[in-house]
Amino acid sequence: MISDTSKNVLIVDDNTSLLHGLKFALENNDFKVLAANNYFEAVQILDTIRPDLIISDINMPGKNGFDLLEYLRKSQTRANVPLIFLTAFHNPELMEKARVMGCEELVYKPVKVGALLSIVRSRLNRAQELETLYTTKTLLNTIEVMAIAIESRDRYTGGHVRRVMNYSVSLARVLDWPTTKIQEVQLVAILHDLGKVVVPDSILNKAGPLNDEEWQIIQKHPVEGEKLIAPLGYDNLPTLSEGLRHHHEKYDGSGYPDGLAGEKIPPVARLLTIADAYDAMTSDRSYRKGMSSNKALQIIEKNIGKHFDPDMATAFINDLLSQQKGEKNECN
Ligand SMILES: [Fe+2]
Repeated sequence: MISDTSKNVLIVDDNTSLLHGLKFALENNDFKVLAANNYFEAVQILDTIRPDLIISDINMPGKNGFDLLEYLRKSQTRANVPLIFLTAFHNPELMEKARVMGCEELVYKPVKVGALLSIVRSRLNRAQELETLYTTKTLLNTIEVMAIAIESRDRYTGGHVRRVMNYSVSLARVLDWPTTKIQEVQLVAILHDLGKVVVPDSILNKAGPLNDEEWQIIQKHPVEGEKLIAPLGYDNLPTLSEGLRHHHEKYDGSGYPDGLAGEKIPPVARLLTIADAYDAMTSDRSYRKGMSSNKALQIIEKNIGKHFDPDMATAFINDLLSQQKGEKNECN
């Protein structure tokens, strides 16, 4: 039975028996198959449906497989559809032309169905990976633009979001976190101060230290940020809600909003706290100049086990020191 998640494959070949044979084989393997006898039938199908993959013969009467590939690559919405060529001729020039035009794979006739199915599956997986990467990157870029717009209200923290994101991602890589987790770290870092939208400008931009009442208002931002993303659904984005709510917790339990301690603080929040604190210490504020990197790293070291997770803080210090050493060597 064909599932709703089955992939659409368009097969184009003027050899009707081969066309039907391949259609039968692919349908038996859970693909939805569209069949065309020539270029013109294929283009008609492509005008209404975007298949997930195309298998096309090269030599066909009238317009051939290269014409179809050219039509595809010039299309605004179909240009990324992977195409596999079928051919009976072992011709290096043909192979070269196909590669230059962006054909993913060349399969020789007589077609071995098992081998063709493996190629189809691997090309579909690759296309899916690329699409996910593209979508994630676009989403992150959009969110980053919004976060920077929010940050621009605070005239003293320009560039904070981007720097915290870079420090956090670098630390997550050093800690060998998986790629999906690193993407979550990136999202959390971009949005960590989202809740500051509820803090009045007069407090956010106050030229001088804050009084107790103002601090209490500022300290609401982690919970406010968590509330703002609640409509997205915590079940789907647990790391994001944890990061927003807990990025001001301290390892010894003296932070806010919940006073969590040690490993009870979610890992993403423990990581973000270090990146956030380092950037806050090294950036200029209205009432003080930012301190040097070395001084900030010394303070982080001094607060290992108090404010910061020991393993993460040690990795952060070593990462920053090795980056600085690398930069120094490049200059020499
Ligand atoms: Fe914050």
